[in-house]
Order: sequence, then structure tokens, then C-alpha cells
Amino acid sequence: MLNDRSSILSLLETRRSGKPRELVGPGPTPEELERILTIAARAPDHGKLTPWRFVTVADDQRDALEALLRQALTEEDPDAVAAKHQTEHDFAHYAGALIVLVSAPVEGHKIPVWEQQLSCGAAGMNLMLAAHALGYVPGWVTGWRTYSERVRRAFCGPGERIAGFIFIGHAGRELEDRERPPLSTVWKRWQPPEN
Ligand SMILES: Cc1cc2nc3c(=O)[nH]c(=O)nc-3n(C[C@H](O)[C@H](O)[C@H](O)COP(=O)(O)O)c2cc1C
Repeated sequence: MLNDRSSILSLLETRRSGKPRELVGPGPTPEELERILTIAARAPDHGKLTPWRFVTVADDQRDALEALLRQALTEEDPDAVAAKHQTEHDFAHYAGALIVLVSAPVEGHKIPVWEQQLSCGAAGMNLMLAAHALGYVPGWVTGWRTYSERVRRAFCGPGERIAGFIFIGHAGRELEDRERPPLSTVWKRWQPPEN
């Protein structure tokens, strides 16, 4: 039974992302990755539909990922300059583990797709927190690749979409925290309507 909840609070209070392009290896071990994904799968899930999946890209598949991204780039932008192709090369080879978070909602179910997508976001958040708890730095990115039909098909089935590419490594330099919204801007006490 867990009784030191203060360390969990400090974990939540210190979580922050790294920029995937700045991460360094090594990524999680296979056992750690399994643990991270097991925790991610404990996301709240109205209707218990598990409307999300995790697709891991192995280190020795990074060249194949680059080929996919460059093919998609060429189709979307036949005039893409060499620098854009270089960006895809770099992206495909960022250090650490790569997990593609897939939103897999059940269409036509009484649980609205919106709620299922929220559950997917919660799974991503759990994943990030688990990585942080194990001493890693995660970075969640989307970008044009997320919305490319060719890239989507490479990771998703029909009706599914990419929610993000989540890299897990270590910070290459000390992470500075970003400014957080003042609580007063995101919290108000409800006033019931007068009529
Ligand atoms: C759905 C989603 C998509 C994101 N896409 C990007 C992205 O394309 N590029 C990027 O730099 N960060 C992206 N982020 C990361 C956030 O911008 C990041 O969390 C933030 O910059 C750092 O804040 P944090 O330390 O509180 O996580 C994304 C985050 C989420 C949840």
C-alpha cells in the first residue's frame, strides 16, 4: 500500500517536457517501457472501450521511419527543399524511445468520440508521468506528420488517428521550467445562473 504520497505530489509538481530534438539517450529499457505503457493504459476510460493504442518504433526501424516521412513529405510538398528532408531524417532519428500514441475511438457508440479522445489524452499524460517517475524526460509532438494520410495509415487502422509522437530520453541540458498559467486565469468559482 502506498503511503508516501508527498513524493507523488513532488513528481507531479516537477513534471515537464523536453524538446524531442534535444533529448539524448539512452531511452527506457524494454522492462521500463513495458512498465510505462502499463501505467499509460490505466487511463480513465468511460465505457471501458480502450480507445487508444501505443505503437513503438524500434531503434532499428528508424531508417524505415525516415523513408516513410520523406515519402509523405514528397507527396505533400514535391518541391520540399533539402533542409525539409533533413528535418525528417533528424526527426526519425531523435534519441530515446519513440511511442506513437494512437487515438482509436469506437464510432457509433453511446460514449461520444470526444470523451474517447479525452481518454486518449489521459493515456498520453499517464505515459509522460510514468516516464518522468522513472527518471526520463518525455516530449510529445505532433506537426504535419500527424495529419499526413500516408503516415496515419502506417500507424493506424481505419477510423484511428495519430495523437502524437512521444519520445522518451534524457535531457541534453538542464531543463528550464516554462511559465505556468496563474491559477487565477484558469480557476473561477462557479456562479449559478440567475434564471
Ligand atoms: C497534443 C499535443 C501536441 C503537441 N505538439 C507539439 C509540437 O508539435 N511541437 C512541440 O514543440 N510541442 C508539442 N507539444 C508539447 C507541448 O508544447 C509541451 O508540453 C510544452 O511545450 C512544454 O510544456 P510542459 O513542460 O508543461 O510539457 C504537444 C503537446 C500535446 C499535448
